[in-house]
Amino acid sequence: MKKQINTRKKISFSTVITTCLIAGAFTLLYSFTPVPQGPAWTAPSSADNDKNPIAAEAGSIEAGKDVYKKKCFDCHGKKGKGDGPKSAELDKAPKDFTKADFQKQTDGALNWKISEGKKPMPAFKHELSKDQRWQVINYIRTLK
Ligand code: HEC
Repeated sequence: MKKQINTRKKISFSTVITTCLIAGAFTLLYSFTPVPQGPAWTAPSSADNDKNPIAAEAGSIEAGKDVYKKKCFDCHGKKGKGDGPKSAELDKAPKDFTKADFQKQTDGALNWKISEGKKPMPAFKHELSKDQRWQVINYIRTLK
């Protein structure tokens, strides 16, 4: 009788260990699974006519970098790869700003997206001035 209880104890202990290992493996797997990207987001073609009035020179790029650090970095990450500290909480990943298929969009299209937003990406038309939006675009152009 005594022996049987001991055996039972052993089994349940190893079961606990196995369960922990399996749970751990899944947690690890999940943390390495990248957040999927949503369907392609396209700005209306009329936005392409909106030309950037602010020259992409050192001053405006610096100002844009400042905006980026405060308002965009959390999700889009230091280099615009979509890997900011908050990105893991998002239900879809932002596009990688360093890629050619992102950079081929016009400044007007980017301005439209930044202004309007698309959940979970916030709209910035009230939060940032027009100039700040063009400046942050000048900065994003340096990330390619
Ligand atoms: C809360 C997280 C978050 C913040 C903050 C944020 N974004 Fe985004 N952004 C996203 C997500 C998520 C997407 C993808 C949305 C989609 O495709 O549906 C996105 C998409 C974009 C796109 C369009 C990418 C494409 O598909 O062409 C641009 C441009 C952009 N963000 C710029 C910015 C700028 C500039 C800022 C700061 C002023 C900013 N974002 C702040 C999460 C964020």
